[in-house]
Amino acid sequence: MTDQDLISKAMESRDFCYCPYSKFPVSAALLSKSGRVFTGVNVENASYGLTICAERVAIGTAVASGEREFMAIAIVVKNGGSPCGACRQFLNEFSPRLRILMADENGKLVRETTLDKLLPEAFGPHSL
Ligand code: THU
Repeated sequence: MTDQDLISKAMESRDFCYCPYSKFPVSAALLSKSGRVFTGVNVENASYGLTICAERVAIGTAVASGEREFMAIAIVVKNGGSPCGACRQFLNEFSPRLRILMADENGKLVRETTLDKLLPEAFGPHSL
């Protein structure tokens, strides 16, 4: 699975984003160590604060399928924005050195980094 393949998987989910309030679709594709891909989309709610981000949906789906180790996540968002703080923390639980691929709404890779750069000195399972 190439980086561009992973971005394509995230692009394929983009139509499924449920964002009637923000009208700001975010989709993600998470690659597990075993080579499986799990997608996620943002799911908003009439009670706005209950909204869940695409990244956390992807992690939840993967964990529910028995995966706990991840190689990379591709995130598709307008202009290729980076994951929110809550999602950084959520991703850190499983893969602190996860590769993060940020792509724009056309599926073009805008930036690549790793989670430890986005969330330095993280609080994680080993902090307890
Ligand atoms: N959103 C995500 O899905 N992931 C992020 O990392 C940042 C924000 C969603 C939440 C909400 O539905 C919309 O983007 C606008 O904040």
